[in-house]
Amino acid sequence: MSGKVDFGGDRELSSNPEVTKLRQIFSQVPASADGWEKSWEKGVTPWDLGQPTPVVLHLLETGTLPKGRILVPGCGTGYDVVAMASPDRHVLGLDISSTAVKKANEWSSSLPNANYFNFLAADFFTWQPMELFDMVFEYTFFPAIDPCMRPSWAKKMADILKPDGELITLIYLIDNRESGPPFSNSLADYEEVLKPMGFTALSIQDNDLAVGPRRGKEKLGRWKRCSNNSSL
Ligand SMILES: C[S@@+](CC[C@H](N)C(=O)[O-])C[C@H]1O[C@@H](n2cnc3c(N)ncnc32)[C@H](O)[C@@H]1O
Repeated sequence: MSGKVDFGGDRELSSNPEVTKLRQIFSQVPASADGWEKSWEKGVTPWDLGQPTPVVLHLLETGTLPKGRILVPGCGTGYDVVAMASPDRHVLGLDISSTAVKKANEWSSSLPNANYFNFLAADFFTWQPMELFDMVFEYTFFPAIDPCMRPSWAKKMADILKPDGELITLIYLIDNRESGPPFSNSLADYEEVLKPMGFTALSIQDNDLAVGPRRGKEKLGRWKRCSNNSSL
C-alpha cells in the first residue's frame, strides 16, 4: 500500500494534507469533472490503495464474485478491475479522468489477463453502454460524487444492470463532512436512492478486511432488484 493513502477515517480526513489538497483543487474548479482531472494530473489521489482492495481478493478467493460482464465505475488506477478480470469475467473500468485511464492502462496493458479488461474515459452519468452488465462493483465512488447526483447514480445502476444483475457497493462510511469530496455518507443514504429503483439488500456485512484508518468504517453491500419492481 502506498504511504500517502488515506481517504479514510473522519479525523484523518480533516488532518490529512492530501485530502486538504484535494479540497483545494475542487474549490478552484467549479465543474467536478475538471476537479477530478486536475487531481489526477497533480497526483493528488489520497484514496488510492496502490493495490487491489483486500475484500475483492477475498470475494475472488471464496468464489463469491459474480461472473460475466462487470463494470467498475470511478475505477481510478484500476487495481480492482485487473484483479477481477479473467476468462469468466470481462471487466470494464470507467473513469471520468483521462489521466486516470492513462495511468491504469500504463501499468496494466501488458499483464497476462489484459484481454479480459478495458478502461474507458467517460462520465458515468451520461455514458451509454452497448450491453448490460452482470455485476457492478463500486468503491469510494458514491462518496466522491455530489450528493445531489445520488438519485441519478442509483437510476444509472438500475439502467445498466441486467434484470438479475448484482450491484456490490463497498461502502466507506463518512460522518460530519459539510463538503467534499469525499462527502458524508451512510447506509441509509444508499438505501434511500436504491430502494425506489427496486434494489433490495441481499446482504450488508462489516468489512473486516478494510485497510488502515478505514477499519470499522466499511460495509460490503450486495444488492439486486426484485423482478417485479424494476426501473427499466
Ligand atoms: C475517490 S476516487 C476512487 C477511485 C477508485 N475507486 C479507488 O478506490 O481507488 C473517485 C474516482 O471517481 C472518478 N469519477 C468522479 N466522477 C466521475 C464520473 N461522473 N464518472 C466516472 N468517474 C468519475 C474520479 O476521477 C476518481 O478516479
